[in-house]
Amino acid sequence: MKKILIIATLIALQPGLALAGKNYGRINDEVVRNECGACHLAFQPRLLRSNSWEKIMAGLDDHFGEDASLDPEVTSYIADYFAKKSRKSSSRRRVTWENVPIRITKLRWFLKEHRGEVSRAAIKKAGTMANCGAGSGCHSAKDVARGYYDD
Ligand code: HEC
Repeated sequence: MKKILIIATLIALQPGLALAGKNYGRINDEVVRNECGACHLAFQPRLLRSNSWEKIMAGLDDHFGEDASLDPEVTSYIADYFAKKSRKSSSRRRVTWENVPIRITKLRWFLKEHRGEVSRAAIKKAGTMANCGAGSGCHSAKDVARGYYDD
């Protein structure tokens, strides 16, 4: 009987666990949402570690080939937001300023999640993987805005 109860509890908990794994939360700051959501979806801080955000925010004038620079005050405001809300950099891994990742779409967990899942047509519709909430058919704009990326 005990065994059955344990199994039943585990099954009941499963959707919750799955949700927790892919839910990055809503960006509650309007400045961040607007400035960093103008060209692609506004990425939630917990998608990258703090040192990655630091590098992204330090290089906005040459941001993946675009000039995404902002007033210094706005830049430091947004940098602070990411610093506070992101996952802390791991001291165990040998990450330097040169090799710190600045693309979420190149991270191992991201590639694993998407391997074989994204059609060419879906990317074409969204324009880029960085805009997966814009009609890709994979993630809805509403889900992306609340930081929810389940399939
Ligand atoms: C002027 C347009 C523009 C603005 C504004 C902009 N970006 Fe980007 N961003 C881009 C482009 C273009 C790419 C590359 C997209 C691609 O290659 O798929 C990109 C890519 C990214 C990526 C990597 C996406 C990936 O492939 O994993 C991150 C992270 C990112 N931007 C963060 C930000 C942040 C933070 C801000 C706000 C400070 C911001 N962006 C504002 C144009 C912009």
